[in-house]
Amino acid sequence: MHTSFFAARLVVLAAIASVVAGQTLPAGCDRNITVQPGDTCNEISAAYNVSTYQLAEVNTGIIDPACDDLYVGEVLCLGITGQDCNVTHVMQTGDTCYSIAAAAGISINTLLTNNPNLNTICTNLYPGEVLCTASQIYVNITYSN
Ligand SMILES: *[C@@H]1O[C@H](CO)[C@@H](O)[C@H](O)[C@H]1NC(C)=O
Ligand SMILES: *[C@@H]1O[C@H](CO)[C@@H](O)[C@H](O)[C@H]1NC(C)=O
Ligand SMILES: *[C@@H]1O[C@H](CO)[C@@H](O)[C@H](O)[C@H]1NC(C)=O
Ligand SMILES: *[C@@H]1O[C@H](CO)[C@@H](O)[C@H](O)[C@H]1NC(C)=O
Repeated sequence: MHTSFFAARLVVLAAIASVVAGQTLPAGCDRNITVQPGDTCNEISAAYNVSTYQLAEVNTGIIDPACDDLYVGEVLCLGITGQDCNVTHVMQTGDTCYSIAAAAGISINTLLTNNPNLNTICTNLYPGEVLCTASQIYVNITYSN
């Protein structure tokens, strides 16, 4: 009797969990994580090789632009299949776009294209920001120099 009661409760909880996850994750999500206590967007990005831009873009409408509305247990998508850059660099004090691009063996244009949150003269980098440093282009916003 007790066993089936608890089994039934587990089924209900699992159903609720999948509904919540289904509401949260965009179509084509190929990686997801559950927010843990103390997480910040850039810490999640750094831990899972997701750019700051991509995490925000994929979770538009779920995370606000300042990323101050994360909650423990929230499920976030990290990337969409085919548009999921997982080669990243965490900006350190002293890094420049030139040094980051050179270290990654990519052009500045590729770096700027894959990270549309950077301005074209790259003066808005900040320590802890996570950049996509892949040589493949993942973002469909044309950078014009
Ligand atoms: C989240 O990712 C896990 C694998 O890490 C997967 O088993 C699960 O189905 C994903 N959740 C959703 C809702 O896609
Ligand atoms: C992130 O990338 C680094 C370097 O390529 C790799 O060693 C690490 O396993 C990756 N972490 C995850 C969670 O994919
Ligand atoms: C990035 O994703 C590709 C394709 O899923 C995978 O083969 C590769 O190991 C990943 N690289 C890292 C650093 O996680
Ligand atoms: C870029 O746009 C093209 C055409 O709309 C689409 O087929 C492709 O999947 C997009 N690529 C990325 C990385 O978003």
